[in-house]
Amino acid sequence: MKKAFIFDLDGVIVDTAKYHFLAWQNLANSLGISFSSAQNEQLKGVSRVRSLEKILAWGNKTISEEEFTRLMHEKNEEYLEYITKMDASEILPDVPRVLDYLMAQNQAIALGSASKNARIILDKVALTEKFHAIVDGTNVSKAKPDPEVFLIGAQELGVSPEHCVVFEDSVAGVQAANIANMISIGIGDADVLHEADYIFKDFTAIDEAFLSKLIKA
Ligand code: BG6
Ligand code: MG
Repeated sequence: MKKAFIFDLDGVIVDTAKYHFLAWQNLANSLGISFSSAQNEQLKGVSRVRSLEKILAWGNKTISEEEFTRLMHEKNEEYLEYITKMDASEILPDVPRVLDYLMAQNQAIALGSASKNARIILDKVALTEKFHAIVDGTNVSKAKPDPEVFLIGAQELGVSPEHCVVFEDSVAGVQAANIANMISIGIGDADVLHEADYIFKDFTAIDEAFLSKLIKA
């Protein structure tokens, strides 16, 4: 029995939200806009362009197209400074155990991330080889909750959507998996991710019996 398991990256495999936060906060402050960690929560899973649009709206600011492009570039330059210092110690607990179990069971594994930096991060934390397919922000034209990223992943793995399982920490990502007709597993807060088929606080709460049940379903 072969299923496909598609992992989001930011907030599922690594906690990069803290780096996005630092970079967006610096950018917002430079524009005189205050930016809280609660607002950062609302940017999880949201594309780079949409994130900047939201920050500008919160600050009631309008800027030119050139300025918008410049700010997005600046934010990413700062974010890159943080992520190039990452290593395997930043992989979230039990992610390698789950990946290794799925591999040992001969399952197909893909990355499905909105980030254009996904490949750099996977390389930094030395997980690139665990994935049979990598679909990221450079491969898609529509942001989550559009299911495009996961549907491309399923296609690359040669597995039909109803045989795919998605691990996601964002509401938009869970919605994308549901729209794609895939099994959605929320990683994080049950109140936030209530639309998911299953919810776990993190991978330490996911045991092999559960994974085996998914494989055999
Ligand atoms: C998502 C993150 O995975 O990727 C968002 O949760 C981020 O916070 C988005 O904005 C795009 O990432 P990047 O690295 O291309 O700016
Ligand atoms: Mg995420």
